[in-house]
Amino acid sequence: MERDMLSCSLLVTLLLLLLLLIVNFSVSACPEADRSALLDFEASLNEPYLGIFKTWSGTNCCNWYGVGCDPTTQRVSDIVLRGESTDPMFEKAGRSGYMTGSLSKSLCKLDKLTTLIVADWKDITGEIPACIPGSLSSLHILDLVGNRISGWIPVDIGSMSKLKVLNLADNQITGSVPGSLVKLGDLKHLDLSNNKLTGSIPSDIGKLTMMSRALLNGNQLTGSIPVSFSKIYRLADLDLSMNKLTGPIPSQLGSMHVLSTLNLDSNQLSGQIPTALLSNSGLNILNLSRNGLEGGLPDVFGPGTYFSVLDLSYNNLKGDIPKTLLSVKFVGHLDLSHNHLCGKIPLGSPFDHLDASSFDNNDCLCGSPMLRTC
Ligand SMILES: *[C@@H]1O[C@H](CO)[C@@H](O)[C@H](O)[C@H]1NC(C)=O
Repeated sequence: MERDMLSCSLLVTLLLLLLLLIVNFSVSACPEADRSALLDFEASLNEPYLGIFKTWSGTNCCNWYGVGCDPTTQRVSDIVLRGESTDPMFEKAGRSGYMTGSLSKSLCKLDKLTTLIVADWKDITGEIPACIPGSLSSLHILDLVGNRISGWIPVDIGSMSKLKVLNLADNQITGSVPGSLVKLGDLKHLDLSNNKLTGSIPSDIGKLTMMSRALLNGNQLTGSIPVSFSKIYRLADLDLSMNKLTGPIPSQLGSMHVLSTLNLDSNQLSGQIPTALLSNSGLNILNLSRNGLEGGLPDVFGPGTYFSVLDLSYNNLKGDIPKTLLSVKFVGHLDLSHNHLCGKIPLGSPFDHLDASSFDNNDCLCGSPMLRTC
């Protein structure tokens, strides 16, 4: 009787131990399905110089270079592969990263991914797998900057409701900015710069109220600047330069309180420079160079403003240089060249530390630093 009880409790203990072992084993190594998805992803890439994929062996993929797992579920949660890195592996190789190949659609099997960074590898080609928005609904960061990715931005990009960072800059992406983008209610950083995007900017982009940086420069975007940008009250950095945007600069941009950098240079913008833009005391960098802006320069500068860059060159501005510019706290780089300005250059700061190139190629500006006397 006693012996029976003993053996029974022994059996229970053994069973418990076995159970513990199974549970422990199943959470300590990465799930086989995740491991094989990673291996498929690796198989479509070629990294010849650093050997980062040499670490991609063994059963526990959570230890592989650039792979991170959720500590409780052990599911793959992060892929962080940067071609520009201070990692010793890069130092040893004495070079930055380089990869060819493309992004495998097997990435979409890693449905618990929160971070996908495959950045600055220079020569990864192919398209963004179309299955990403539908499959990777936990993604917070999608960063594929600095490759040679082509094709369109997936039309259903807006279904990744957790996305905070979308960086597809410096690729060869074509097509237009998908309308669904404005559904990314948590988006903070949007960088689509230096691609081949065409079409217009969604007029309801202002729905992205969490956004603090929006960089769309260096594309072939047409149409006008959506007024709704002004509703993004956290927006600090807006760069739409080097596109083919037309129409006026919305005056509402002048009343944005956090905006500190506004680059609209090298477009085909017309109309006058909104008064509120020049009196906005938060704006530090304003580049409106190389457009078709006309009219006079509003005399609305004030002691509250501080410009490290005020570049209004290559427009059709006329009239004289406003005297209130003398009251501005600081102007670092001022460029009024290549316009139709006329009259006396005011005496005093900031004009006394600028050289003639800031005023070159106007109609009849005179006084120091120009050679022409008034
Ligand atoms: C302003 O934009 C123009 C044209 O895109 C560019 O050449 C210039 O360097 C920019 N100015 C500054 C100060 O960055």
